[in-house]
Amino acid sequence: VLCWLYIFPVYRLPDEKEVVQGVLLQQGRAWRRNRSAVAGFRKLLKDCCDPGRFFAMTKENSPVGKNLWYDGEFLYSFTIDNETFSLFPKATPFQLPLKKCSVVGNGGILKNSGCGRQIDQADFVMRCNLPPLTSEYSKDVGSKTQLVTANPSIIKKRFQNLLWSRKAFVDSVKVYNQSYIYMPAFSMKAGTEPSLRVYYTLADVGARQKVIFANPNFLRNIGKFWKNKGIHGKRLSTGLFLVSAALGLCEEVTIYGFWPFSMDLHGKFISHHYYDNILPDSWFHAMPEEFLQLWFLHKSGVLRMQLEHCE
Ligand code: CDP
Repeated sequence: VLCWLYIFPVYRLPDEKEVVQGVLLQQGRAWRRNRSAVAGFRKLLKDCCDPGRFFAMTKENSPVGKNLWYDGEFLYSFTIDNETFSLFPKATPFQLPLKKCSVVGNGGILKNSGCGRQIDQADFVMRCNLPPLTSEYSKDVGSKTQLVTANPSIIKKRFQNLLWSRKAFVDSVKVYNQSYIYMPAFSMKAGTEPSLRVYYTLADVGARQKVIFANPNFLRNIGKFWKNKGIHGKRLSTGLFLVSAALGLCEEVTIYGFWPFSMDLHGKFISHHYYDNILPDSWFHAMPEEFLQLWFLHKSGVLRMQLEHCE
């Protein structure tokens, strides 16, 4: 079904059952990284989006006076002033290329997966949307984090935009130890102020976590890259942004928790997230379409997608 889809992509998407069956057919087959496919895909990403240079806002790619457009809405642009410029690192603040990376989506397939140790064995662990990492989950999702994304909408929903007490926020990010909090501060105009507030809140208390801002040009280019490959959602999911960045920044990428379906490979019903069952707004992202692209990358040896229990 999946091969057929890639030859005739204009036809309907396979339904959930067909995807599960297609994936099942591949299970048990040895997976091998395909070095030339990895290099080929990295070249595509470098040509469109250059993650190494443009992943975050830096002093190098965003000088004072530069005008940038918000990538998540039309009409609004902003100009980098001295104060905002002073918040940017000189260049992308990682030792590139990163070696082994785990990218952890929040899918319910991680629950009872026992994948925590394997996830933590990577040199660099990336997570989405400030996920819970309390001890009840560590067996399945690990506890190490080098980078975690945070949308301004989460800051609004969970922490009242940091307009009142900031302690709950500062305490809640301690589980991410010394990691970067990656915020799309310049995707929507309304998100800029809360993102800056997150930056100053953590800086003021001398927290070990440091905020870096997503470069809106990078997000826009990654969006276009996948649109050209047939992903039609209004906006890419955070997870796909992160996997795309990882493929440009890391030598080896393994992804966990990317499974936007309601049953696992054995037909057992699973929750949407490993920590709750709140469903997404299905119009906004196109997660099953995204899944097929990731599955294709897995099959071609560009990344490894972990779907079964670990060990
Ligand atoms: O806010 P958003 O829906 O983008 O993300 P989330 O629910 O916090 O999950 C983080 C990421 O994991 C998503 O952006 C998806 O890429 C991925 N995910 C998945 O593939 N399957 C799921 N059942 C849930 C999340």
